[in-house]
Parts: sequence; C-alpha cells; structure tokens
Amino acid sequence: MDPGDIPEIMDLEKNTLAAWSRKHLEDELQQPKGFQFVARNASSQKIQAVICGRAMADEAEILKLSVAENARQRGVGYHLLDFVVSYCNNKGVENCYLELRASNGAARKLYEKRGFIAVGTRKTYYEEPAEDAILMRLKL
Ligand SMILES: CC(C)(COP(=O)(O)OP(=O)(O)OC[C@H]1O[C@@H](n2cnc3c(N)ncnc32)[C@H](O)[C@@H]1OP(=O)(O)O)[C@@H](O)C(=O)NCCC(=O)NCCS
Repeated sequence: MDPGDIPEIMDLEKNTLAAWSRKHLEDELQQPKGFQFVARNASSQKIQAVICGRAMADEAEILKLSVAENARQRGVGYHLLDFVVSYCNNKGVENCYLELRASNGAARKLYEKRGFIAVGTRKTYYEEPAEDAILMRLKL
C-alpha cells in the first residue's frame, strides 16, 4: 500500500462499518512495525482488497481486512490473509491476533478457514452500533 492508494481504499471501504479515515490510513503507513498490503485485479489494476496490521517480535495483530463489494466471495480475502500469515511467519511471529464484531459471520468463517480460533470476548468493544468483539488467535 502506498499513500497514493488511500483514495481508492476509502472508496472500497465506504459501506463498511470498519472504514478508516484518510488520517488513520496515513498514520498507519508511518507505523514502524506496521504492514499494509493491497491486492489488485491483474488486468484493471484496481484495488480489490486491503490488509493492515502490526508485527512486533513474536506477536502480530491484524487491524484491518476489507474486500471490495464486487470482489467478495471469490477467495480474495482468504488469499490476502494467507499472504500475511506467511509474511508474519517469515518475521518470526508465533501468535497472530485479531478482533471482529460478534455478528460478522462471514469474517469469522474466513478466519476459521485459515486456522484462527476464538479465544475470548471483549464486552461492548465496538461503538455505532455497540457490539461485543470476538478475539481470535492463530498459532504459527
Ligand atoms: C469478510 C470479508 C473480508 C471476506 O472476504 P472475501 O474475499 O469475500 O472472502 P473469501 O471469498 O476469501 O472467502 C473465504 C471464506 O470465508 C467465508 N465467507 C466469506 N464470505 C462469506 C459470506 N458472505 N457468508 C459466509 N461465509 C463467507 C467462507 O468460509 C469462505 O470459504 P468458502 O468460499 O470455501 O466457503 C469481506 O466480506 C469483507 O470485506 N467484508 C467487509 C469488511 C469486514 O467485515 N472485514 C473483516 C473485519 S474483521
């Protein structure tokens, strides 16, 4: 992900509950331990998905995974997640964590397919609308 990708990412995320502002995306690019990747359509070069997180020593956290509405349910999310798991593995990460809304069944199934398991709940973690978070972990 480059700074020039930010307008396209904001457009991709405009109908999702977890959309980040321009400032948030810009700040994420400055994180020393951060990673940010986009997946592009091979012919149009349009961004189809974005993933962001942090890898610190033996732990990583995935902070964002969004797939464009018109590219969903074709394996894009799974393959981008799988790429990041390999990236973390190469960096010596032993445990990878993420949080998701309790009602986000599609995301939960995606993460479970890649081997993540639910390890806890954070009560009323999310706002607008208020909702519990499920904490998931993948041991690498
Ligand atoms: C959740 C999301 C990232 C899934 O991305 P995707 O590219 O559509 O997912 P994939 O096509 O790679 O699907 C992988 C697996 O996820 C599950 N899955 C994906 N979409 C699903 C849906 N709508 N309903 C049920 N399961 C679904 C399935 O288990 C699927 O495996 P299968 O195809 O063998 O059944 C995408 O829907 C999205 O961007 N949603 C909005 C943002 C979001 O919620 N992000 C996650 C925040 S934690």
